[in-house]
Amino acid sequence: MSIKEIFTTMEYGTASENSDVAQQWLTNLNNTFNHYVNGKWQKPISKQYFDSNNPANKAHIANVADGSAEDVEQAVVAARKAQKEWYAIGGHARAKYLYAIARQIQKHSRLFAVLETLDNGKPIRESRDIDIPLVARHFYHHAGWAQIMSAEFKGFEPLGVVGQIIPWNFPLLMLAWKVAPALAMGNTVVLKPAEFTSATAVLFAQICDEIGLPKGVFNLILGDGKAGQAIVEHENINKIAFTGSTQVGRLIRRATAGTGKKLSLELGGKSAFIVFEDADLDSVVEGIVDAIWFNQGQVCCAGSRLLMQESIADKLINKLVIRMKKLVVGDSLSKNIDVGALIDASQLAKIKEMVSLGVSEGATLHQATCIDDKNGCFYPPTLLTDVEPASTIAQQEIFGPVLAAMTFRSPEEAVQIANNSRYGLAASVWSENINIALDVAPKIKAGVVWINCTNIFDAGAGFGGYRESGFGREGGKEGLFEYIQESWLTKLTTKISKAKESKKAVKSPNAAAINIDQTAKLFIGGKQVRPDSGYSLPVFDASGVHIAEIPDGSRKDIRNAVEAANKAATWSGTAAHNRAQVLYFIAENLQSRATEFAQRICQLTGESSKDAENEVDLAINRIFSAAAWADKYEGQIHIPPQRIVTLAMKEAVGNIAIVAPEEGGFLGLISTIMPAIAMGNRVIVVPSRETALLATDFYQILNTSDVPAGVINIITGDRESLTDTMAKHYDIDGFWYWGTAEGSKSVELESAATMKRTWVNHGKLYDWTSEEQISSEIFLRHSVEIKNVWVPYGA
Ligand code: NAI
Repeated sequence: MSIKEIFTTMEYGTASENSDVAQQWLTNLNNTFNHYVNGKWQKPISKQYFDSNNPANKAHIANVADGSAEDVEQAVVAARKAQKEWYAIGGHARAKYLYAIARQIQKHSRLFAVLETLDNGKPIRESRDIDIPLVARHFYHHAGWAQIMSAEFKGFEPLGVVGQIIPWNFPLLMLAWKVAPALAMGNTVVLKPAEFTSATAVLFAQICDEIGLPKGVFNLILGDGKAGQAIVEHENINKIAFTGSTQVGRLIRRATAGTGKKLSLELGGKSAFIVFEDADLDSVVEGIVDAIWFNQGQVCCAGSRLLMQESIADKLINKLVIRMKKLVVGDSLSKNIDVGALIDASQLAKIKEMVSLGVSEGATLHQATCIDDKNGCFYPPTLLTDVEPASTIAQQEIFGPVLAAMTFRSPEEAVQIANNSRYGLAASVWSENINIALDVAPKIKAGVVWINCTNIFDAGAGFGGYRESGFGREGGKEGLFEYIQESWLTKLTTKISKAKESKKAVKSPNAAAINIDQTAKLFIGGKQVRPDSGYSLPVFDASGVHIAEIPDGSRKDIRNAVEAANKAATWSGTAAHNRAQVLYFIAENLQSRATEFAQRICQLTGESSKDAENEVDLAINRIFSAAAWADKYEGQIHIPPQRIVTLAMKEAVGNIAIVAPEEGGFLGLISTIMPAIAMGNRVIVVPSRETALLATDFYQILNTSDVPAGVINIITGDRESLTDTMAKHYDIDGFWYWGTAEGSKSVELESAATMKRTWVNHGKLYDWTSEEQISSEIFLRHSVEIKNVWVPYGA
């Protein structure tokens, strides 16, 4: 081509990245990837391998060890053996190892980038300029957290051995997101990459080897879902961290239920990209390119639903179609392409099927030109307009370069459509009006909101979702709590003290049913109501005398309570100062009836009057603490390297179900409810059988303390069946449970359907008088979701 022709056509020439070094690296390994266990390369015990190919051209990359439960067993043994010492060497020593890893990643960054592209099919520009620099940043940042762990996390310790299962869309980046915080906090790791993308994990293990990371600290098991399952089911693993499909996330939630394993899940999404009429449309178009065509749209937080204000919709679509058609699909190693290969033919088939479905549902199809190469998994950037918000393509994750566009009229409608999703991972809001942007961002139910930007990540800012997008955060201080635990937690027992046992023994149903002086009601929507069942349960005093009846609440009552809680949603937006005032008022009113409550405690539990008075005093103290924190448990501002501030905002979880502790008495009941409502949650509470009557006495206090109707709902009755109903309820966002090990298991199991956040005690007994165990910090942390709102700046 002559220079004149080049100027005329403005076509790019070829600029392919040289892959010789990466190919040589593969050749040196004999194109075979093995496990890395206890500091050694290990062949699979089954001797089985499977093929891994380059999705851009089907070229063979490697034979990959097909991990089995036996391989996982060896890795867990090694990790367990190494863990104590890894923690004992201290934060500074761990920081030096993490720092060495970061340095090595930078030194080998080109090899990492080329390997990632060969293995995954993503454009070399992206792996070189986005993935690998972020990986290095993650290890640097977390080296710092290791250094300051003892100062910043006093009273915490590592979890132990952590099992980590990652997907194929950002292979090394997902490894970094998981491995860096785990190691920084003194855990050891067994990691399994996705079956399609093992290469950079193998190179990472080589680096660990080269820097002399102590053996057993990082263990790599290759393989598919069955190796993943073996990690999930292994009894000697303390935590599972998973990123991948919601379907597998749900399986993992069920498999780990009741085992005591800590769990974080980063799952799918259907994130909204909202464009207001005053947005800078040229920037918006570039934003959309990054939101949905970056990484072939194989991004969990991809902005796959475009919501445009009606007045600018046509203009935006015209601009977008022109821009989309200029995107170049092609060989992933070429520096001139915008869109590379999809991971696998199975994903390509799924995307084609979803697009056809969209068209059959009435959407209009716009597509860029695609490379004509049957050897690679290529699919063109695609835009579907005239999409109905309820249609399949607007609701289901496609995980490909496919954007579904729809319109809205007002900011309220935009929020409504954005939140009309099972997922809640991310959103982008585009407006030149900061008032609109900052008004809309907090209203969107998603863990991350980008304002006038999209798909930006940093090691210092948490990432993670709500609802079916999973729970837990990765990155920043909030992400580190996923890898540590309070030291006292490990010392809890399941034994009830002798005094409690003997008191329980007194309560026999044979005790005379005399002196029935009270039939309490349920407390729903600020009113005392009869139970739907029409049944009640007997309440005995400490000597076994039948003194009253409490309602036997049922499924219908829970449904009514959740409805009342939904109606009280404005509580979450009420100023923290005002919420604090309500809590102080509750404390004040309880104080004025303290003697009466203490007497009731004596009657029900047989406690001495002194103990009962102390219990009420401490309960009032706890209400004061919650009130005090209401306007002080604030968010943070993260400072990522870009010219952006990231507002880590603490938001209410929503509706929280609370099954109050049996052993905690009145104090336990108050200690659980107050921090939850202080942070703006609405609660549906099942009191312990022993304190049910006290809870019903408490209604009058709530009624006289300006607590808005529906903020606190109290349902007495059979704890097991009420627990089951609440765990399954779609509109309950969080579940706190203190009860038996079986009850804890059932909460975790049944919550899998809706992926609600759970906090259970696994049958362990808390000391409800302990300031350490019932610290405000712990309860407040469970009362909030952290939403990171990214706001770029600069004129
Ligand atoms: P997947 O969820 O099956 O795979 C993710 C990881 O989990 C892989 O390492 C896999 O080997 C492992 N795994 C599979 N079954 C397992 C089991 N029973 N127990 C433990 N580990 C298991 O995702 P897949 O099949 O690769 O992709 C399917 C869909 O998942 C995509 O179309 C997309 O919708 C979604 N996905 C979401 C991702 C995200 O970042 N949120 C990443 C990858 C996929």
